[in-house]
This record gives sequence, C-alpha cells and structure tokens, in this order.
Amino acid sequence: MRSMRKMWRPAVITLAAALGLSCTADLALAQSLSRPADPAWNVPQVSALPYDEQGNLIRRGFDLVSATYAHIGPAVADPAKRYAGNNLACTNCHLHAGTKKFGIPLWGLWDEFPAYSARLGAEITIEDRVNSCMERSMNGKPLPVDSPEMKAFAAYIRFLSTGVKRGEKLSGLGAGKMPFLNRAANPDRGKLVYARACAVCHGPEGRGVPRSRAEMTLGYLNPPLWGPDSFNDGAGMARLTDAANFIHFNMPNGTSYNHPYLSQRDAWDVAAFVISQPRPKKAGLDKDFPDLLRKPVDAPYGPYADDFDQKQHQFGPYGPIERALARLKARNPDGVPNPAR
Ligand code: HEC
Ligand code: HEC
Repeated sequence: MRSMRKMWRPAVITLAAALGLSCTADLALAQSLSRPADPAWNVPQVSALPYDEQGNLIRRGFDLVSATYAHIGPAVADPAKRYAGNNLACTNCHLHAGTKKFGIPLWGLWDEFPAYSARLGAEITIEDRVNSCMERSMNGKPLPVDSPEMKAFAAYIRFLSTGVKRGEKLSGLGAGKMPFLNRAANPDRGKLVYARACAVCHGPEGRGVPRSRAEMTLGYLNPPLWGPDSFNDGAGMARLTDAANFIHFNMPNGTSYNHPYLSQRDAWDVAAFVISQPRPKKAGLDKDFPDLLRKPVDAPYGPYADDFDQKQHQFGPYGPIERALARLKARNPDGVPNPAR
C-alpha cells in the first residue's frame, strides 16, 4: 500500500496543480488514496478474441462503442449511416468502452434484458435500450434491429457478460448512488465548481475539444457537456441524479469511484449547472412514463403525479417529493395514468 501511495502522490499533485486546487483538497485526495480498492473484476478482453466471424462482430461492436462518431455519426460520408445526431461516442459516458465500475458499465447486462421500462410502460429488449440512448444521449435515430450495427452492439454487450450467471447482479452497475441533498442543488455555486474543475477540459462554454476542427468524424478529445452537439433534454445524463453521481464517481476524467475527487455537495451543484445549460430538445417528452407514479423524482419535464413544480423536480430537494409520492402510491395502487398519452 505504501509503495502505491508513493507512486500515486506525484500524479495527484500534478493533477491538483493543473486544476489549481488548494493544498487541503490535495491532502484529502492523497489520504483517500490509501483506502484499499475493491478487487478487479474479470472484464473479458476484445483483443484476445480470434479473428473469426464472431470475434470480428464483437470487435465491430467495440469500435462502435468507442468511436461511434466515426461509424454512425452525423458527419460520416454515407448519409444512410448517419444515425447519431451528435459526435459523441458511447464510451464518453459508458467509460472504458463500458467496462468501468460506476462509469455506467455495459458489463453483465445481457441477462437483465428483456426488462421492464417505466418510461415506456412495457418490456424492452437490449436493442430497445441501445436505441433509447441513440435517440436521447446521441440525439439521433433508432438503429434498425436487424442492421449490422445493432447486431454488433448486441454482440459486444453480450460478450461483456461472458461468465456472468443468470440472475447474478454485478456490483458497480450504473453511476453510483450518493444520498440526496436536503436542499435544492445550486447551479450558481455549480458554475464556480465548473470553472475550477471542469472548464480546463470541457471548455468555458461547455463545447468540449474536438480532435480536429475540420473533421468531425474524429470525434472529441473532451466531449461537449451542453450546446448543439450534446445529449438532448430527454437523456439520462440530463437528469440531476444521473449527472451528479456520474460526475462524483468519474470526473475529472480518470477519477475512480473509490477515490472521488469532488465533494458530494460540489458534484450535485456542478451537475445542476451543467443540466441547466441549453441543449437539443426532444419532442414528445410529456408522453414518457404512462404511470406517473413510476416517473423518477428528478425527471426535469412534466407532467407529474404530485404538486411540486418543474424546478423542484429538476434540482431538488427530493425528500418532500419522495414522501408525497409514497402517500400517492398508498392511495393509488393501480398507478396514476399520464394525461398526455
Ligand atoms: C451522454 C451520456 C451517454 C451516452 C453518450 C450514451 N449513453 Fe447509454 N446510458 C446513459 C445513462 C445516463 C444511462 C442510464 C444509467 C442508469 O440507468 O443508471 C444509460 C444506459 C444505457 C444502457 C442500459 C444500462 C443499464 O445499466 O441498464 C445501455 C445498454 C446503453 N446505455 C447503451 C448505450 C450505447 C450503445 C450508446 C452509444 C450508441 C450509449 N448508451 C450512449 C448515458 C449515455
Ligand atoms: C482531465 C480532463 C477532464 C476534466 C477536468 C473533466 N472531464 Fe468530464 N470528461 C472528460 C473526458 C475525456 C470525457 C469522456 C471520457 C471518455 O470518452 O473516456 C468526459 C466525460 C464527461 C461527461 C459525460 C460525457 C458528456 O459529453 O456529457 C460528463 C457529464 C462530464 N465529463 C462532466 C464533467 C464535469 C462536470 C467536470 C468537472 C467536475 C469534468 N467533467 C471534468 C475529461 C474531463
């Protein structure tokens, strides 16, 4: 352990210095590095696959996750392949091509699907789930289920479940779960956190850093967080809880869930700042969630089953909303139908 600390300290200090951190923050981070990490999980390796038909299909899926913009992005040469509406890659959020704990991994998902989707009020397949990110996170169009690209996505996601038993729930799925704040998240405070800890990579205007100004099929070195080339307002990352947890456990990029860098407070506030910035709009969001009692408390768009306003749903505090929803659930065992449908 001690040798690990020695090894890491200079990197920490360099990072801290690059971000203009105070000494106390640096010390807290260095101390947190002495906490033991969970054992590694057995991520199957794409590069170990044979070059046969199945191996190549899985490789194609890995490439699509890693460089989505280059294959199905809005700037690719073949207009028929322009499924994604922005130049992000799945791996920008599903970190390390879907293999990072609490970096919204795509690992161990295969047997979870078909799964019930509260948003659609129906069972969905893994292909439907991929398309949900295509239409929201990627601000694009759904891929046909029998397209070569969808087959490759599915093959890669299936491969990432190699050795996982049916019913086995891996730890590290999703983006982590901090306790809610007992106040509303504060975008004004978040703006200061952004300037201190994020702007260096994502840019002062949140537009990210493209690898090339001339050629968008090369994607981003650091992806945009808002603006026209970002995820739309119906995406999971546009919800405070997903954004705050993802940021707390993964950002600045390179942060691991067991050594968070931002305090929980800073993560909630900076997430509030990011999600309150302009981004593409998805039509028809009011029709999501046929049963309003199953709508997540932080859905930033109505209608809602309770009487809290849009702002409180977007930024919290969530405690009072959760208590109101629990009362409504007890009174309406069959749910509350969405009037917009
Ligand atoms: C802007 C960020 C972002 C991008 C880009 C993105 N996703 Fe997602 N994705 C999310 C979030 C947030 C969730 C919800 C995680 C949760 O439920 O905790 C999610 C969930 C998923 C899930 C279900 C995961 C689970 O744990 O059940 C799959 C599968 C998925 N995405 C595939 C993709 C694919 C394939 C792409 C690229 C075509 C993609 N996503 C691009 C943010 C993103
Ligand atoms: C050292 C550079 C760096 C810093 C600092 C940094 N990020 Fe990131 N961020 C990245 C990179 C690179 C990715 C994409 C990761 C990948 O593709 O592997 C990313 C991904 C993201 C994403 C998901 C992708 C998207 O486009 O929405 C969010 C949200 C995000 N960062 C928010 C933040 C916030 C908020 C901060 C400040 C607390 C921050 N980041 C600090 C480099 C950075």
